Amino acid sequence: MADLNIILSNYEGKKSDLIPLLQEIQSEFGYISEELMQQVSRFTGVPESEIYGVATFYTQFRFTPKGKKHISVCTGTACHVTGAKQIIEGIERYLNIKEGETTKNGEYSLESVGCLGCCSLAPAAMVNDEIKSKLSLRIINKLFKEYEPSDS
Ligand code: FES
Repeated sequence: MADLNIILSNYEGKKSDLIPLLQEIQSEFGYISEELMQQVSRFTGVPESEIYGVATFYTQFRFTPKGKKHISVCTGTACHVTGAKQIIEGIERYLNIKEGETTKNGEYSLESVGCLGCCSLAPAAMVNDEIKSKLSLRIINKLFKEYEPSDS
């Protein structure tokens, strides 16, 4: 388990440390919990509401843990021009969450990411470590049916 104090020891606690500090925390803990937010606030002297405001400006930050199946939809150029936005919107509708959120049952979470390095397979996404290629709304629906437990 990551130790916040070790992370904090790399910073001086200045307001300008905020973004790199939040990035490092997210990288270590997977998301920025309320408790972590409070500790960052104490360390930097920046009010929690302000930190939250700054962090929500950047879509890279998460405030909830990732789901068991974490979906990263590529929004790099090749995927963007082949419909990444529609793919994200389709998944949002299907899961009833917004990008950056996790379903209430903790099964799924969704985020957009930069190029996954498989542009010829655009539009592409990853579900955990598995690449899903040439996505369409039809494929997304099929994919979620595969993920549903057979006894439900
Ligand atoms: S732009 Fe999506 S994989 Fe490269």
